[in-house]
Amino acid sequence: MLKNKTIVLGVSGGIAAYKAADLASKLAQAGANVRVVMTWEATELVKPLTFQALTGNPVVTGMFEPAPLSAITHVSLADEADIVVIVPATANIIAKIAAGIADDILTCTVLATTAPIVLSPAMHNNMYVNPVTQENIARLKKRGFTIIPAVHGRLASGSIGYGRLPEITEIMGTIQQTLGKNGDLAGKRIVVTAGGTQEVIDPVRYIGNRSSGKMGYALAEAARDRGSAVTLITTPTALGIPAGMETVKVQSAIEMKDAVVKATAKTDALIMAAAVADYMPETASAQKIKKGAGGLTLELVKTPDILSEIKGKFLKIGFAAETQDLIANAQKKLTAKSLDMIVANDVSAKDSVFGSDNNKITIIKKDGKPQALPLMSKREAADKILDNVVKLLK
Ligand SMILES: Cc1cc2nc3c(=O)[nH]c(=O)nc-3n(C[C@H](O)[C@H](O)[C@H](O)COP(=O)(O)O)c2cc1C
Repeated sequence: MLKNKTIVLGVSGGIAAYKAADLASKLAQAGANVRVVMTWEATELVKPLTFQALTGNPVVTGMFEPAPLSAITHVSLADEADIVVIVPATANIIAKIAAGIADDILTCTVLATTAPIVLSPAMHNNMYVNPVTQENIARLKKRGFTIIPAVHGRLASGSIGYGRLPEITEIMGTIQQTLGKNGDLAGKRIVVTAGGTQEVIDPVRYIGNRSSGKMGYALAEAARDRGSAVTLITTPTALGIPAGMETVKVQSAIEMKDAVVKATAKTDALIMAAAVADYMPETASAQKIKKGAGGLTLELVKTPDILSEIKGKFLKIGFAAETQDLIANAQKKLTAKSLDMIVANDVSAKDSVFGSDNNKITIIKKDGKPQALPLMSKREAADKILDNVVKLLK
């Protein structure tokens, strides 16, 4: 997704400039060609050499630096960019861009580019909530800029308020989403479920399973990065909530069913990657169950079968996690639940177990023969699944 993309990373003179070094590093690691442009004030906070070392590219800091190319630097950067991202964006740079001022290399590049522009404001709370800053942000949004809102938290001054730079993963997610806006799922809506449900026994215990949610999250992110609007319905997981999608948090199979019914009122596809419990305690104890002398028997009843019960004109894609007779069991599930496609994975395999970053899947479409794929990352597997979704949606 980010491979071979040219990302012009503008760094302005906010205290969060040091965090932009982490972003530059992560973008470069993902294969992007990162061209850093710094304002003079930013160079007072972080040395250009840091960015040069992390990106392997020279850093541009001045309008009148001799360009190695027979080109004007800000114009060539503006043309080269697949996307321009300003992290952090100071109140000053936001105001200058909103007013069309072009008195340094960064504002000139912004004015000269036709690439999408993402700004991540970060500043002291009072500067951020100041009506003039908010008006400038609103103006830029209206002009098609993507603004990542500053978050609430501890600020450099020690006070608590709005103005903090969001996590770098959130900024990465927004960059990927912006780059993929016109992808092959543009204009589509996809609902993805992820994680293992938790069926309550009492206020401190539940019946769970070993699903990590990684496959579902990878699918949601991949769909987002191909232009789809995504609703992610997730149980509690150890994963960070991805940027650029609607997220619905649930715990039990019943809660998940309610969320799926609501989300699929308007969708093109439902991908049920969550591991939904088949059974739940008949009643959840209101108080913690105390240890007694003997054993404990729990009466279990069936949970709703979401994929079988859900109605609507959208693609239904299920997952079959099996430990034996993988393909036969998956095919049975495909027919029994009237699915359009099923993704079978052998959870007894050593190299693609729950929690792993990799998966070895077999895709089976209605009327199609099984398509067995080699071991790959869950993100790559997600894209293979979505390749099939794109074809089915045509
Ligand atoms: C230590 C220090 C930290 C600063 N942090 C911020 C900040 O987080 N956000 C902001 O908008 N301005 C901040 N400023 C003020 C800007 O540096 C100042 O407005 C400057 O003119 C911005 O220039 P630029 O937008 O061209 O980079 C800070 C200034 C100093 C001295």
